[in-house]
Amino acid sequence: MVDTGENVTQRVAPPAVDPAAGVQAYYAQNAGRLGQRYGSVTFEEVHGGVLDLLPPVPARVVDIGAGTGRDAAALAARGYQVVAAEPVRELREVAQQQHPSENVSWAEDSLPELSRLDETFDLALLSAVWMHLPLAERGRAMERLAALLAPAGLLVISLRRGDPPTDRVMFDVPAEDVVSLGERAGLRLVRLVEEGRDRLGRADVWWQTVVLRKGEG
Ligand SMILES: C[S@@+](CC[C@H](N)C(=O)[O-])C[C@H]1O[C@@H](n2cnc3c(N)ncnc32)[C@H](O)[C@@H]1O
Repeated sequence: MVDTGENVTQRVAPPAVDPAAGVQAYYAQNAGRLGQRYGSVTFEEVHGGVLDLLPPVPARVVDIGAGTGRDAAALAARGYQVVAAEPVRELREVAQQQHPSENVSWAEDSLPELSRLDETFDLALLSAVWMHLPLAERGRAMERLAALLAPAGLLVISLRRGDPPTDRVMFDVPAEDVVSLGERAGLRLVRLVEEGRDRLGRADVWWQTVVLRKGEG
């Protein structure tokens, strides 16, 4: 509410997030609310279609764009040593409050470079992240992901489908595009899961999950 000085009070809308400021501004401003929302479903509910493909423990896992830490903590609870890469400080802070885990180490890092990661992983997870990458960055990002995988390592990418919202940078990227980019980077398709409806209840959103493996495995 704004006092105009004339005993008239006007209702003003909260400042809109400027998409040009980048996707990180949206996540920074909404971190607390999103932590509640992402935590309202479990890792097993969200990724049930690929659970049987997870590598045997012990194994090294990286959760890229780990957000508020739901998946990183669940993977750590399954016995993996987890690196959680997340560019937005506010999300990392929510994660450490909502999903603390001794077996998750957090890194401030982002695609396409992921310049702070200096080891290889048996599993890389990108849950609801790829849709934020502009076309010009996707090839480089896939090459980097392939380089981060150990031999026979798995890359799991879940894709939010449907018309993107206008309040943040987002693209509707079909699974086939991800598969072709992966093949160019030396990854082969293991599974495509048509997840269907949005588990958070948004009518205009649906999901696909692509699982790629490095080399012949
Ligand atoms: C919809 S949230 C998903 C968070 C979490 N993976 C989950 O499934 O709950 C998208 C996440 O991608 C992150 N992100 C956006 N652009 C990114 C980039 N270029 N590199 C890494 N993460 C990015 C955001 O900061 C945010 O944490």
